[in-house]
Amino acid sequence: MKSKVYITRKLPEGIVSRLSERFEVRMYQEEDSIVPRDILLNEVKDVDGIICLLTDKIDQELLDKAKNLKVVANIAVGYNNIDVNAAVKKGVVVTNTPGVLTEATADLTFALLMATARRIPDASNYLRSGEWGAWSLMQMTGQEIYEATIGIIGLGRIAESLVKRAKGFNMRVIYYNRTRKVDKEAELGIEYCDLHSLLQQSDFVSILIPYSPDVHHFIGKSELQLMKKNAILINTARGGIVDEGALYDALVKGQIWGAGLDVFEKEPVPVDHPLLSLPNVVTLPHIGSSTVKTRLQMATLAVDNIINVFEGKEPLTPVNS
Ligand code: GLV
Repeated sequence: MKSKVYITRKLPEGIVSRLSERFEVRMYQEEDSIVPRDILLNEVKDVDGIICLLTDKIDQELLDKAKNLKVVANIAVGYNNIDVNAAVKKGVVVTNTPGVLTEATADLTFALLMATARRIPDASNYLRSGEWGAWSLMQMTGQEIYEATIGIIGLGRIAESLVKRAKGFNMRVIYYNRTRKVDKEAELGIEYCDLHSLLQQSDFVSILIPYSPDVHHFIGKSELQLMKKNAILINTARGGIVDEGALYDALVKGQIWGAGLDVFEKEPVPVDHPLLSLPNVVTLPHIGSSTVKTRLQMATLAVDNIINVFEGKEPLTPVNS
């Protein structure tokens, strides 16, 4: 009897074929919409493995229904969509896709920083609107990046790669992490700061911690109040880490200068979301890792994890080993 695998979103044929050669595969056939919860709960009843995206909630209810489940392979590095403790209790292996997306996500984080600091979307819209009368001295002025101070919250793989980009711009890099990483400080040329002083000193604050309920609204009103008036907040981690209401107020009151957001508390973000109405906010639809190469590598890694588990080998990237 072949193991049964359910894939929660339509994936490229080349990726799926490696699974269908070995397993009985069923797949949700839409590319741009989330599998409805009732369909998901029904589909998982008899499966041994699930390949899912960060949009799919793998919780106690689902785990209870999926009686044969052995492995859940998330195509994302973040796995806050999965109740890992509940999975562990049921002996279900959970895997994610770290490593392969590090450079693409660091690139996007720096691109968003630059786009926000230099008002690239705003300036492009200005030109296209026909308002551009003449070159003028203080037109579309943004914030200087070269030699500015960047404060990075969280020092995981993506943050380390971001440091290398920042160093190319001669930036001073300070970081805050729950555990101080002294060995990395000399290696990367970075300084440790407590959160309070990081927020006070940074021209750019980049959030790169994983989401868990402990860090819900980690950046809220009082943290934003500590930031400089010229500061820019960049979030390429998870929306729930920032209190969006407090961020909106801080931006409107001019407490901080701008924000670049790739992630939102609720995704997809509605077009009438207040943050989307502000010219000093650059918004993206959660595309941190979105290059052709990286997204295919992420899917391939998820497939490799599934194959390993069913072949009785160690998964390559388990989150709950
Ligand atoms: C994307 O947000 C990921 O966690 O991979």
